[in-house]
Amino acid sequence: MSKVVITNRIPESAVAALRAVHDIDYYDAEETISREELLRRAAGADVLVTLLTEKVDDELLDAAGEQLKIVANVAVGYNNIDVPACDARGIVATNTPKVLTETTADTAFGLMLMATRRFGEGERVIRSGTPWQWGMFYMLGMGLQGKTLGIVGMGQIGQAMARRAVAFGMDIVYTDEFELDAATAEALHARKVDMDELLSTSDVVSLHCPLMDSTKHLINAESLKKMKKTAYVVNSARGPVIDEAALVDALKNGDIAGAGLDVFENEPAVHPGLLECDNAVLLPHLGSATVETRTAMAELAAQNVLDLLSGQPALTPVTQKTSL
Ligand code: DGY
Repeated sequence: MSKVVITNRIPESAVAALRAVHDIDYYDAEETISREELLRRAAGADVLVTLLTEKVDDELLDAAGEQLKIVANVAVGYNNIDVPACDARGIVATNTPKVLTETTADTAFGLMLMATRRFGEGERVIRSGTPWQWGMFYMLGMGLQGKTLGIVGMGQIGQAMARRAVAFGMDIVYTDEFELDAATAEALHARKVDMDELLSTSDVVSLHCPLMDSTKHLINAESLKKMKKTAYVVNSARGPVIDEAALVDALKNGDIAGAGLDVFENEPAVHPGLLECDNAVLLPHLGSATVETRTAMAELAAQNVLDLLSGQPALTPVTQKTSL
């Protein structure tokens, strides 16, 4: 039996699958485990099943010890894991791609609609009891049909976002290191461009890239200035991809029209300036938050553990270039 430390509450089916064959140390709570508790429980673990709220770094890997074989993250994003540190110690890090693709794209698309059609703002009018009346020019937004969506990071989630946008009559431009094959590019009406062209031609810029050194503050004061004043930015990837202070300035100065954000630079804190911007739609990191998807994510993480401990390769190992 191997010692499996689960660092937070996860769907029961995944816990049961692990408990059936291994010795489980389960932090069965929804609040984030304290660092002290995490370091203490990790000692002697063969497996760590982590959430995106746990930083997996040299300190934690040292605390776990040399027997640690796998860190199974219950998230597609893996910026909480020092992947080179795991690689250097021969520890396999895994994430949960594909199972959350559609749900996360739904969230990004929802944010795009909410921001461009001012649905969040409209709801606040009703809830606050502010007087209102139907009017020809009242609270007009931007229609999506015929507009250009710029997708930064054309992995699984970026492509799922593109499929939705094509159904809404949008054109797609994208940036990524790789190029879509011709058939997929045609089906998605998608054209690869450089970042400057994407920023200057898109009516909505949607972020679907992993957070890495190269993508931290990818959207900053300079890039926001390159966008159309009528354009929107949507972020369902990771908060630090956007320089939040620069975004607040751009939203307040009218450098761009609006933003839809599911993620924040210093979660759970939100830049106070964003709260003052009626043209920002703000969600508390709900990207993959459905019962079905969270269950599938946890079960995939458990399967990665079970496979690796039984001598097979893990299903979804992270590499330093894994896309979302
Ligand atoms: C992920 O899996 O990376 C998501 O952000 C979780 O919702």
